[in-house]
Amino acid sequence: MSGSGEDFQVVTRKKWIARKCLRRRDRHKSESDYLKDCPDVDVDKFKDRLERLCTKMSQSDYFMLAMETLQQQVDVINRPLERIVCLGLGPFSRTHIALHQAAFVVSLQRHYQIKEAIYFDPVFRESEKELLRLFDGSVIAEDCAGKHEATVPTLYYLPHCPYPLMNNILWSNWTRDTLPNVLLVSNSFEMLTMTRKTPKDHINQVVEHCTETPLDDDYEHQNVFNDLSLHTFPWDSLPETDDEIFWTRCAPMKVNEDELIIETESKATH
Ligand SMILES: C[S@@+](CC[C@H](N)C(=O)[O-])C[C@H]1O[C@@H](n2cnc3c(N)ncnc32)[C@H](O)[C@@H]1O
Repeated sequence: MSGSGEDFQVVTRKKWIARKCLRRRDRHKSESDYLKDCPDVDVDKFKDRLERLCTKMSQSDYFMLAMETLQQQVDVINRPLERIVCLGLGPFSRTHIALHQAAFVVSLQRHYQIKEAIYFDPVFRESEKELLRLFDGSVIAEDCAGKHEATVPTLYYLPHCPYPLMNNILWSNWTRDTLPNVLLVSNSFEMLTMTRKTPKDHINQVVEHCTETPLDDDYEHQNVFNDLSLHTFPWDSLPETDDEIFWTRCAPMKVNEDELIIETESKATH
């Protein structure tokens, strides 16, 4: 009977879901409108602002503790870090989360005196690219979707990034000799694999062989460094070289729009 309480509930639930979807769509729309419409910064002034933030960052408890954690793992591989690859930093002249993360990467580069720091995010504006160059970084011209080889010990910094980017970094380094060169800061693999049990991807495959050290987040601003861990892949913990099943590469993953939305939402709810 169309007027029954059951039918009534079904209809209101549908409406509720539709409204929720619209609200979510509008929220994303207004966020992306804001990022698009946000006026460009004055590079010289912004450079000073980022410099001041780097000074504060390098003196923060969060940074010092993160450097201790990193050093312990650098000691395990027993070779110096030679490169930083930072993907998915975000529009750091327009959002404060990405700005603090940018200050972290620059401070890390200085702390370890690393010559090469490479960045890519499709959202970067020209002014943001210029700023990164002024802070001794370089910006990759093309989207490599995380397919980046660690020919030297490399710190990959992917704060709150889409799952496929981390997967594709592993994909690019999927040999027992190369994987130990990867030191990856990203959302916790342990947490990601709890909710995402795809039968065969490199994150699910490697999770039991990697060393995951959470980067304790006592930073003064919330939602900047939450849920991040350092992942390393010590040679001794990896399967033998002749384990063909393990070392056969899966197909790399595509980074798609849905993934970005899911990542943004799950981060916001943490
Ligand atoms: C959830 S946001 C994280 C932004 C920021 N790091 C934060 O914590 O708020 C994911 C970022 O990944 C970037 N991204 C998407 N595809 C990418 C790709 N192929 N390579 C590098 N970054 C990518 C997006 O533009 C976006 O800035």
